[in-house]
Amino acid sequence: MRLAYAAIPAIVLLLQTTAHGADLDNGRRLYLDPTLGGGTAGKCCFTCHEQGRDLPADLDRRTSFPLMGNTMGKLADVVNSCIEMALRGQGLDPQSKEMTDLIAYLTWLGKSQHDPALPATGCTR
Ligand code: HEC
Repeated sequence: MRLAYAAIPAIVLLLQTTAHGADLDNGRRLYLDPTLGGGTAGKCCFTCHEQGRDLPADLDRRTSFPLMGNTMGKLADVVNSCIEMALRGQGLDPQSKEMTDLIAYLTWLGKSQHDPALPATGCTR
């Protein structure tokens, strides 16, 4: 019985994950977090990308990303550039769950260009 109760959070988490195993709710949380990567600038992804601004619908299919005069081949590198330059934090491990969840969320938001669950006030801290 105790074991069954212990399994409940895991089951809830499982229900919230996408087919690819990424967690969109966690991705949204990271998108709103100015301390992502240890960020110190007081900005979060939402500050500049709001409801998906500048996030194209084909993020998951693109093989090159122009960013401030550079061209990058990996979405994770672009995300890390924004974390380093805009949030003034340190890039995330491209293989980490944080990066996976954030990219899943960005890809979803790039397509939908609107997330009713995003607060109008922006960053969470
Ligand atoms: C200070 C503003 C700012 C913040 C904060 C910011 N970005 Fe960006 N981001 C930009 C600019 C400017 C571009 C380049 C847009 C362009 O050239 O179309 C960009 C581009 C991108 C792109 C590539 C879009 C494309 O067309 O290829 C991604 C993905 C991205 N940002 C993700 C993020 C993520 C994730 C965060 C939060 C960790 C974030 N950004 C925070 C300004 C910001």
